[in-house]
Amino acid sequence: MRTLITAVVGTALGAALVLAADAAAGKATYDKSCKSCHGADGTANAAIAKGLKVEMKALGSKEVQAKSDADIKKVIVDGQGKMKGYKIANPDDVVAHVRSLKK
Ligand code: HEC
Repeated sequence: MRTLITAVVGTALGAALVLAADAAAGKATYDKSCKSCHGADGTANAAIAKGLKVEMKALGSKEVQAKSDADIKKVIVDGQGKMKGYKIANPDDVVAHVRSLKK
C-alpha cells in the first residue's frame, strides 16, 4: 500500500514539474516570436494593431482564454486574419504560456 501511495504522489509531482517546464520553454519562445506584437503580458502592441488596422484582444482576456487549447494552437500554427502562422518547435508550450497570462 505504501508503495502505491508513493507512486501516485511521485507521478503527480512529476506531472506538475513537466507542466512548469513547458510554460517556461513556452515563455522563451513567446518572448522571441510573439512579444513584439502581443506584449510581454499579452496586452497588444497598440502601434501594431493600428498599423494592421485590426482590433487585437489581450491574450489574457476572457474572450481569448475562452478558446480551447486546440484553437489557440491553431491560431499559432495556421494564423488567423492578419496574423500569419508561425512555424515554431513547441506550440503546446506556448499555449501553456498563453494560459499563464490569464487575468
Ligand atoms: C506580427 C504581429 C504578430 C505576431 C508576431 C504574433 N501575432 Fe498573434 N495576432 C496578431 C494579430 C494582428 C491578431 C489578430 C488577428 C485577427 O483576428 O485578425 C493576432 C491574434 C492572435 C490570437 C487570437 C486572439 C483572438 O482574439 O482571437 C492568438 C491566440 C495569438 N495571436 C497568439 C500569438 C502567439 C502565441 C504568437 C507567437 C507564436 C503570436 N500571436 C505572434 C499579430 C501577431
